[in-house]
Amino acid sequence: MTTLLGIETSCDETSAAVVDNGTMVRSNVVSSQIDLHKKYGGVVPEIASRAHIEKIDSTIEEAMSIANCSRNDIDAIAVTNRPGLVGALLIGVTAAKTLSWAWDKPLVAVDHIRAHAYSAAIDLPSPPWPAVGLIVSGGHTSLFRINTPTSIDLLGATTDDAAGEAFDKVASILGLAYPGGPEIERASRDANPKACDFPRTMLGRDSLDFSFSGIKTSVLYHVNGHGKTRGGLAKLSQSEVNDIAASFQKAVIDVLVKKTMLAVAQTGLSTVVLGGGVAANSSLRNALETACNEREWRFHAARMAYCTDNGAMIAALGFHNLQGGKIARLDLDASANAS
Ligand code: KG4
Ligand code: ZN
Repeated sequence: MTTLLGIETSCDETSAAVVDNGTMVRSNVVSSQIDLHKKYGGVVPEIASRAHIEKIDSTIEEAMSIANCSRNDIDAIAVTNRPGLVGALLIGVTAAKTLSWAWDKPLVAVDHIRAHAYSAAIDLPSPPWPAVGLIVSGGHTSLFRINTPTSIDLLGATTDDAAGEAFDKVASILGLAYPGGPEIERASRDANPKACDFPRTMLGRDSLDFSFSGIKTSVLYHVNGHGKTRGGLAKLSQSEVNDIAASFQKAVIDVLVKKTMLAVAQTGLSTVVLGGGVAANSSLRNALETACNEREWRFHAARMAYCTDNGAMIAALGFHNLQGGKIARLDLDASANAS
């Protein structure tokens, strides 16, 4: 049995988890900062860093306590060191380095997006690899070919906004709260997804890249009038707002599903995994599952608890990095960019 403590502070969630053998989660404590950022309509980096400092010790202690662990039960400490807000990442990285030194345990660096890609494998009885992975979060929209947990090739990515960013920006256009993804999902329930014909940007027949800035502008002009950026929302009824939300959500999901099907066709694989914050969207989960079932492909979505940012996926992928001998030094740095 190999047990890792995983630490995650890349954005607006302070999280720590204890995971056995890269798959069995013993604890996963998430302290969300959403309430602190809500009034600003997005994550404020300085506020995020300060909140991580306040929460990091108690979050780690709680994760260790729920898992019924002492330092002697921990074999290594995994931490997100990229990509993300550097000031936020540094809090987790510093905590992990300190514990690594004080407890004399190996330090393992984990890429946040690759951890999202791995997250669908947590709790599965057998590994789903090789698979095509669709990772949709607030900062990234990527298609990966996941050969093994430590061999992951990028197939395509967004050329502008990430899917979650588009949800957040469109929610703001529609006067909905931050974070926008869950609000758009709520507004879309019982609304008409065919009410508005928003663009599905494909960027060429064989392209696995994404673009979501066009649909965001299209919603903006639909609400305010062509070329206008404000003044239209007050004239819309609640049910018109809900129909716009549902039509936007449907257009984004159509593109995500179509590109994922294309990635499977291009790679010749027959398994799809889904992860990242936007993977919490049940219409997306259902649409991808249906598309995979129709083709008799296997489909695994990350469990809800492992979609938005969490320490469990960091400890889980950290286990495989450790097994591959990828041990970080105590001068490990944080980086805003993906590896
Ligand atoms: O993975 P995550 O927690 O943080 C990043 O690594 O970015 O993803 C956060 C993103 C936000 O943009 C949020 O609006 C979106 O995930 N999100 C959703 C849903 N829940 C969270 N998007 C659509 N539907 C949801 N139910
Ligand atoms: Zn994330």
